Amino acid sequence: VVDFSRDPTAQGFFAPERFESRIYDCEVTGEIPKSLNGAFVRVATEWLYPPRYPHDSIFNADGLVAMFRFRNGIVDFTERWVHTARWQADLAARRQLYGLYRNPFTDDPSIQEETIAKPYLRTLANTNILTHGGKLFAMKEDGPPYELDPETLATRGPMTFGGKYRSETFTAHPKFDPVSGEMICYGYEATGLASNAIFLYTVNRAGEVTSEVRFKAPYVSMVHDIALTQKHIVIPVFGFETSLERLKAGKIHWAWNARLPTYFGILPRGGDAADLRWFKGPLCEMTHTFNARTVGEKVILEAPVGDSNPFPFFPADPGNEDPPTVKRGWHVRRYTFDLASRSEGFTEETLYSHPIGALGRIDDRYISLDNRYVYTQFTDPTRPYDEARAGNLRGRVTNCYARFDLHGRGLSTYFAGDTHSLGEPVFAPRHAGSPEGDGYLIGIASNLAEMRSELIIADATKLEAGDVARVILPFRLGSQVHGNWLAGDRLVFT
Ligand SMILES: [Fe+2]
Repeated sequence: VVDFSRDPTAQGFFAPERFESRIYDCEVTGEIPKSLNGAFVRVATEWLYPPRYPHDSIFNADGLVAMFRFRNGIVDFTERWVHTARWQADLAARRQLYGLYRNPFTDDPSIQEETIAKPYLRTLANTNILTHGGKLFAMKEDGPPYELDPETLATRGPMTFGGKYRSETFTAHPKFDPVSGEMICYGYEATGLASNAIFLYTVNRAGEVTSEVRFKAPYVSMVHDIALTQKHIVIPVFGFETSLERLKAGKIHWAWNARLPTYFGILPRGGDAADLRWFKGPLCEMTHTFNARTVGEKVILEAPVGDSNPFPFFPADPGNEDPPTVKRGWHVRRYTFDLASRSEGFTEETLYSHPIGALGRIDDRYISLDNRYVYTQFTDPTRPYDEARAGNLRGRVTNCYARFDLHGRGLSTYFAGDTHSLGEPVFAPRHAGSPEGDGYLIGIASNLAEMRSELIIADATKLEAGDVARVILPFRLGSQVHGNWLAGDRLVFT
């Protein structure tokens, strides 16, 4: 019996839909810009079977990938589960075999021996979806990426990189160098559960591994995202902890610990582990980065950053909680690391004290280069909200996108409407050769009144003017983790 009534997070708009679908020629309001040729791809977390533990993280739900394929102002939609080994095992058993987020000691006894020995078999490919070397793949940071058919989104299987990628895990945030065409990727807990090994790889334009660097983190933590410059790689380590003892005790993988310091590893591109330098400072919460650059002897990083635990399902152990005075939320901050200094410290500046969300994007053509604009979503409680139609989420809906100017000229904002909640905004250039920031913000909105999802397309240079088009779906999409715009020339579509 499939019964989601025990899961309080799976109700109302957030009740799982659990189907695979295809819509030819989607309903559209406004006019889709004809220059947008390519695909918006995204991945949502959705349970095929209800979780075994009601306090589990939504990050432990299956991956449901979707593609909005744009051709000359027309959009076709496809959505499919990632048929991971875990998804297939659950379907064969007709129930949830897997226990808590990244803890195989809580799995069904029938599979525990295998999942403890090979925890990467538990991966869900539910966090990000990207393309490199002519392959489309979905990924989660606890196992290998899963390759997908770019036309049908059918699952082809785990990627092996010809046996040259040796980490058991693969990040959900590989970085792409727009100059060299290389992918910089890594795995943390690279040699097994609660290991502090990080393996970092360079993969060339053709998808071949060309270098591997192995090193150890100062402590085992969630290394969800990194930042890339033309000369360096920045590796943030902060705030979360785990251990084999903790996992054997049946607890969820991560605990927040407000007493931990933050480390930033700076690795020269092309260097080896001996060249890695760790900087250390007070705790900050940097799940995602915007971008970084190397200027002379300095590495400069911008990111959406907070000071407190962002995930209530990864609570602190007693004594390690955030102090009651801690401020919640994220801001646009800049970090500067001086490689000429002998100090292990770094400088931190808040560029905008405006509250933002934890997700942040840029024009991806400027990854590792000097960029001017960053994009994020945020909650503006002063905007109108139609509680009668959209329910009692007043003050809590993510109703706006923002573009922040790193050159200090302020922000511009987009408002989605009084019944809508927004996910991550993704930047799509207006044309292949458009200057930085000249293009569109694309993302999924939940229409809480109509109980369906919409794809928003807003002109990134005129956010206050509202959106230029919306793709209207006749059903709800699951909660998105990440999405990406894949311009037509980045994938071979049949
Ligand atoms: Fe992420």
